[in-house]
Amino acid sequence: MNVMSGNVMSGNVMSGKVTSGNAMSAAPIEALPARYYRAPEIYGRARERLFFRSWQFACHQSRIPEPGDYFAFSVFDQDLFVIRGQDGGLRCFFNVCRHRGHLLVEGTGRTRLLVCPYHAWSYGLDGRLVSAPGTRDLPGFDRGAICLTEVRLEVFCGFVFVNLDADAASMAESFPRVEQAIRALCPDIEERAFAHEHDAVERCNWLVGVENYNECYHCKVVHQTFASGVIDPKSYNIQAFGETRCLRHSAKAQAGDTAWYDTSGSDYGSFFLWPSFSLQIYPSGLVNTYHWQPLAVEETRVYRGWYSRDGIVDDSLQKVIDLDRDTTFAEDLTLVEGVQRGLRSLGYRPGPLVLNPAEGIDSEHSIAKLHEWMREAVDD
Ligand code: FES
Ligand SMILES: [Fe+2]
Repeated sequence: MNVMSGNVMSGNVMSGKVTSGNAMSAAPIEALPARYYRAPEIYGRARERLFFRSWQFACHQSRIPEPGDYFAFSVFDQDLFVIRGQDGGLRCFFNVCRHRGHLLVEGTGRTRLLVCPYHAWSYGLDGRLVSAPGTRDLPGFDRGAICLTEVRLEVFCGFVFVNLDADAASMAESFPRVEQAIRALCPDIEERAFAHEHDAVERCNWLVGVENYNECYHCKVVHQTFASGVIDPKSYNIQAFGETRCLRHSAKAQAGDTAWYDTSGSDYGSFFLWPSFSLQIYPSGLVNTYHWQPLAVEETRVYRGWYSRDGIVDDSLQKVIDLDRDTTFAEDLTLVEGVQRGLRSLGYRPGPLVLNPAEGIDSEHSIAKLHEWMREAVDD
């Protein structure tokens, strides 16, 4: 197979290598048509076929450390919450009362019982109905048979993921060897605790945000502070992680005078887990995350999380958070909204991807991969 066909599914691109021979005559691979970022039916297919069948990030385990601690969140229009039981285990439930459907919890908190605000049906931390006012003598009412609807949950390096598909492959099967690679770069990752999070609503489709994150071709143009403060741009690369739907970013630490903090110790690595979460290990083991939550076809909330050994934001971490939010994070926000506006243009034509045979920071192999995974998920 070769790249002559202009087909994103081409074998050479799938393996992360582009045929070098006869490169002058090979038709470049094109970006996706605008409908993938704008059409309600494609957004709907991504909801059902992709987000409802893949592992979605909920929160870090340190945000719900004690029995009764819960954290509410959503995946598209599905309200969910994770809660720590009396047994110390974590469970995820749909956030909907088994009576007539009211939401049970909002935000985050700690409780001994989950009491529905509508008619006060109460559930234990394991989701079982404990009491329902006025039902004691109700013929045929079987309290013991009523339980909140549970959702699959796994903890991955301390991060809690859920999957609405009861038959989905496990995290380890979905992302083979990724956990080992993360632990190799950050052996004590389990000891991290949630320290800080901020978010922003981007007026763009979720895939625009994800694509922007997963290429660094724009870094030297736009992210000069990142390229001088955190990593050495000459060493940056993004590659498919084996056959799994993970993209691995790697770079040497920025060791010059411009570094934002003491970057000695270990290099930079980032693991993007398709379709909506990325775990980044900044140099010297500074753990942080990106997470994209689709709100509407052209609206996405992006979350930026930071984790430290004790959950405390010290001066050094605060400096990094502030610099990142005011530069890279803000710069990307402008970029993705600019792209979404362009995708609405009658003049938009999918352009050629820059698949540099040498790979590295100026290549968009990772974008070809994302396009392949997107087509796989939503094309009929
Ligand atoms: S809807 Fe929850 S108790 Fe009625
Ligand atoms: Fe960027």
